[in-house]
Amino acid sequence: MSDKAKSKSPSASPPPAAESSEGAGILPPQYWTTHAAEAGHNAEDYADADSTLGSEAATSTASITSSVLDYRELYGRTYHSERGNAQYWGTNDERQSEALDILHHCLMICMEGKIHFAPIKKDIQKALDLGCGTGIWAIDFADEFTGAEVIGTDISPIQPSWVPPNVKFEIEDMTAEWTFGENTFDYIHGRWLSGSIADWNELFKSAFRALKPGGYLESFEPSALMESDDGSVKDTDAMGQWGKLFIEGAKKIGRPFTVVDDELQRKAMEAAGFVDIQEVNIKTPIGLWPKDKHQKEVGQYAQLVIESDAEGHILFMANTLGWSREQILVFIAQLRREMRSQKHHAYYRQKIIWGRKPE
Ligand SMILES: C[S@@+](CC[C@H](N)C(=O)[O-])C[C@H]1O[C@@H](n2cnc3c(N)ncnc32)[C@H](O)[C@@H]1O
Repeated sequence: MSDKAKSKSPSASPPPAAESSEGAGILPPQYWTTHAAEAGHNAEDYADADSTLGSEAATSTASITSSVLDYRELYGRTYHSERGNAQYWGTNDERQSEALDILHHCLMICMEGKIHFAPIKKDIQKALDLGCGTGIWAIDFADEFTGAEVIGTDISPIQPSWVPPNVKFEIEDMTAEWTFGENTFDYIHGRWLSGSIADWNELFKSAFRALKPGGYLESFEPSALMESDDGSVKDTDAMGQWGKLFIEGAKKIGRPFTVVDDELQRKAMEAAGFVDIQEVNIKTPIGLWPKDKHQKEVGQYAQLVIESDAEGHILFMANTLGWSREQILVFIAQLRREMRSQKHHAYYRQKIIWGRKPE
């Protein structure tokens, strides 16, 4: 059976035609296969961009019901099970979990070891991490705030079962009605949720309600766009196209990827009633091109996050735009060549913003 025949699209509707996205500055997917043929690249060149196919054994905690493990599949990669309206673009298999753990390491280096920015007190009692992924941030946070109970929620049960005693993980859809009571948490955190949330105002309203008066919400989001200040990343480069693919794919599923670009975090915080809103904006380099030692280290890890599982990041969005798997793999191979060349001085912007619920 071919990969195509075996695959089951995780999107509810069939993938729309690729042509429909051309107007947004996205090159048609055939561009990459033609480009590869002209450059004399062949299938072997991108073979190692391929994943180890086959569904990964799902790990679970005792409290998980089997429906949560009823993963959807696309070209052998697995996605979260059906949960109301939740729709997440990344795979939830071992390979993607490794990429998420590398991402955490990258962001920690980037933030020089700071796990939060909001001015929270050392003796907070209860914290919540929305869309916690592998739970790595929640575990590190719990290690630092040993007196606090830390809850991490996600739609995929990809968290470890051996965790500090003050951490617990729950399967919850943050876009559905919250099960947490009013005035429950001292601190709520959400990181890298772009492309998963249809209504940021609604999400931050739920967080406002669940926070105690005086409690803080902190939101940490990346822009999908790979940019450069010296013109070294061109629109027609795979690096120049990467973010556009996410933005257009996200439009199709009604969950914006322009959260940083459109200031959605601040708008939603203000609309919910948060005060003393403050933000930090950073540029995160991708690749080994920076001269500065710290930035070079960040860039090395940022590249590794993408290289470790580019397919798991982009497969769903590109499939949503009508790309074939071969086109996706050729695109990834080109992206990897560009990242490794050090000729593209790429970075992506990130915004960390926090606000307080008034007393
Ligand atoms: C890019 S990952 C980031 C993980 C983690 N926050 C981090 O920074 O390492 C996004 C996570 O959000 C989760 N997610 C997406 N939509 C969700 C929803 N509606 N409710 C709960 N979790 C969701 C995904 O399953 C995934 O684990």
